[in-house]
Amino acid sequence: MEKITFIGGGNMAMAIIGGLISSGWEPSRITVIDPNADQRKRLAADHGIQTTDDVAVATAADIIVLAVKPQVIPAVAEQMEAELSAKLILSIAAGVTVATLEGLFGPVSIARTMPNTPALLGLGATGLYVNEHTTDAQCATAKAIIEAFGICVTVEREDLLDVVTAVSGSGPAYYFLMLEEMIRAGTALGLRPEDAKALTLHTALGAATMAAKGDAPEVLRARVTSPNGTTHAAIVSMQKNGFGDVIAKAMIACRDRAVELGKAEQ
Ligand SMILES: NC(=O)c1ccc[n+]([C@@H]2O[C@H](COP(=O)([O-])OP(=O)(O)OC[C@H]3O[C@@H](n4cnc5c(N)ncnc54)[C@H](OP(=O)(O)O)[C@@H]3O)[C@@H](O)[C@H]2O)c1
Repeated sequence: MEKITFIGGGNMAMAIIGGLISSGWEPSRITVIDPNADQRKRLAADHGIQTTDDVAVATAADIIVLAVKPQVIPAVAEQMEAELSAKLILSIAAGVTVATLEGLFGPVSIARTMPNTPALLGLGATGLYVNEHTTDAQCATAKAIIEAFGICVTVEREDLLDVVTAVSGSGPAYYFLMLEEMIRAGTALGLRPEDAKALTLHTALGAATMAAKGDAPEVLRARVTSPNGTTHAAIVSMQKNGFGDVIAKAMIACRDRAVELGKAEQ
């Protein structure tokens, strides 16, 4: 039975650990390393897992999850002196490339991921890229860990993780902006703000649930858009005003910024 150790026991680690335990991982196989004593107490009490502040302990595990802020990773690597060749290092740190991780940890198995914040609710959408040292079994393990807190999409090239950032990593904020704007417009058109908010949020939830059932978004949209009807008027207005371009340009800007930040982390 593989053992997993998290370096960093913050928000993301807590979400992943919650998912792992719900999906059947024994708490005795999970350890968290975190300098914060209160955080360690909370994790031990909530999940019955082992906790410590000693990073050197990480090398006893088969899978080491880097769940610290990117700038902390070099210090963590310095404290892990033991042989890592049979281990899988799974990084959730944004922008830290495989080349940087190999520079710090050596030519070991590395699964680099790009999760998003809905992971905190078990609804994450995560991109996964593995380096050439990673075995098929380790890749399957990485996928299983990710699927404990949402869906996993494997990409064949590392640069595609920057596109994953533009789609799902930063994606929740695009939907939040859409919600803000719809609430604002509904209020400006006369609804009470709380009513505009309730209607908007429930519409988003309903639409996302319908789309998640499998029909393509364009099919669902066509179904609710009668020619010359009210929805048609709204969609035509959005398209005339360049809605598609706005989204495409925003995602290019996001991808380009991810590339820049990735270079700065090296
Ligand atoms: N949150 C997200 O939605 C999200 C999405 C995608 C990717 N990520 C990535 O996930 C990683 C973790 O994010 P997070 O939101 O979980 O951060 P977080 O809540 O700040 O958790 C990081 C934890 O690591 C601890 N820590 C600091 N130095 C350490 C060390 N040397 N050894 C062990 N633990 C140490 C921190 O303790 P102190 O607080 O005492 O410093 C904190 O408890 C980041 O790299 C981030 O880029 C996060």
